[in-house]
Amino acid sequence: MEIEEFFGDQFHQWRECFRYYEMAITELESDLGIIDLDWQTRLGYSPIEHVKTRMKTLPSIVRKMKRKELPLDVESLWENVHDVAGIRIVTSFRDDIYAILRHLETRDDLKIEVVKDYIEHPKPSGYRSLHLIVKTKVYLAERIIWVPAEIQIRTLAMDFWAATEHKLQYKYQHDVPSESREELIEAARMADALDTQMGRIRHEILKT
Ligand code: GTP
Ligand code: MG
Repeated sequence: MEIEEFFGDQFHQWRECFRYYEMAITELESDLGIIDLDWQTRLGYSPIEHVKTRMKTLPSIVRKMKRKELPLDVESLWENVHDVAGIRIVTSFRDDIYAILRHLETRDDLKIEVVKDYIEHPKPSGYRSLHLIVKTKVYLAERIIWVPAEIQIRTLAMDFWAATEHKLQYKYQHDVPSESREELIEAARMADALDTQMGRIRHEILKT
């Protein structure tokens, strides 16, 4: 089916909406770049290791909206799907995640709507990360809009686990044998232990 046919008379609204998500990503990426530079300049150390952004693809959006039984229109997308604009901040240490959260909480160009702490409360899969659903302030030529986005903050170890597990899930079409699932949960615990140990080493070094 042609894409314009799928959207029907809402084609222009969908396109406009996608532009807003792109603007939010640009905004967030640039703001984080500035904070990273400021931390490096003043402290010689930034809690941000690297940042990755992504836009949810249209097939994935449609799949999610169908799964949640949402009407396939722009208003419903805007109100109910909060992860079209996605940004992932990767850190070296677990403490850095919460340092970034504390910074984000002080900003008045960001409204943190939901905090999901999958580090305190890992998912049954073993997945760990801090997820924020936010609204990002975007200045348009003649008005201000607040655009929904999902920010995932995780350590390199959590990121390694999530990226690798995601590849395996994809390879096995989400049907990973149960022994392998157990092993993945164990691997997530090992990644967590690595974060604990690295944190302890940093603490020791900073003391001396
Ligand atoms: P979705 O409908 O999948 O977006 O779920 P949700 O709205 O409840 O959001 P959730 O807080 O579960 O976060 C979803 C996102 O977190 C996914 O798009 C992944 O990026 C990541 N995620 C969640 N669970 C897992 C997991 O078990 N493994 C991996 N690799 N990533 C996960
Ligand atoms: Mg999601």
